Amino acid sequence: MSRLAGKSALITGSARGIGRGFAEAYVREGARVAIADINLDAAQQTACQIGAAAYAVQLDVTDQASIDACVAACVAETGGIDILVNNAALFDLAPITDITRASYDTLFAVNVAGTLFTMQAVAKAMIARGQGGKIINMASQAGRRGEAVVGVYCATKAAVISLTQSAGLNLIRHGINVNAIAPGVVDGDHWDHVDALFAKYEGLKPGEKKKTVGAAVPFGRMGTAQDLAGMAIFLATSEADYIVAQTYNVDGGNWMS
Ligand SMILES: NC(=O)c1ccc[n+]([C@@H]2O[C@H](COP(=O)([O-])OP(=O)(O)OC[C@H]3O[C@@H](n4cnc5c(N)ncnc54)[C@H](O)[C@@H]3O)[C@@H](O)[C@H]2O)c1
Repeated sequence: MSRLAGKSALITGSARGIGRGFAEAYVREGARVAIADINLDAAQQTACQIGAAAYAVQLDVTDQASIDACVAACVAETGGIDILVNNAALFDLAPITDITRASYDTLFAVNVAGTLFTMQAVAKAMIARGQGGKIINMASQAGRRGEAVVGVYCATKAAVISLTQSAGLNLIRHGINVNAIAPGVVDGDHWDHVDALFAKYEGLKPGEKKKTVGAAVPFGRMGTAQDLAGMAIFLATSEADYIVAQTYNVDGGNWMS
């Protein structure tokens, strides 16, 4: 299929995981995709594996100069950005009494400020070009309520949902749709890290948390990037033109349960 034929997409944090899965899906739909990541080597490897429609760009979403350079590189490469997926994020976990300022600052810098200022830079480029665009922020079920030992990450994802609402309302006058996807539990490197942290704080054996959360999903298993890709494609097409400021759960029923 070619629902994104001729479109230019920038996906942050797409060297691996969900972002990489989205990049593969977008390329299958005919888009050119910037694999933008703090880890340039991994981004280059991923772009190379995906093929000629993907290209690697260095991006640290906590650094304004890096964001501006990345957006300029994408515009130079493709003539303009049609789609931004704000996907880069970090996870950490600790009981309230153990949260450190360093962890708080890092997570808010990447997950919230990174999302906001990448969105801002791309929105400016979209407005200057005058052809509108689609912005998709990666939220999480964690943004819909607090969790006992996940306070900071949950707060960052709640902020992403809120920013999606404000930016959605503000940018639709320019033909820019801002929406978000809230996954539940998605298998991959990220969850291996989460599992290790739960093992530490809840005294679990490695792999135990992952098994439990997967079994608890009403669909019967953890999600994959491909389970989310349909929504990421849909929100990037003109079929989603009338959708503004929304956050969609794509989670096998996890949030509802
Ligand atoms: N995996 C899950 O279960 C899950 C659930 C809900 C939401 N999410 C969200 O989905 C998104 C993707 O998750 P994932 O599981 O693929 O994560 P991941 O950790 O596998 O990938 C994140 C990518 O972001 C990159 N990155 C980190 N810091 C960066 C920075 N400062 N600048 C640019 N790139 C940076 C990393 O190098 C990595 O390639 C995240 O926003 C995450 O919060 C994931």
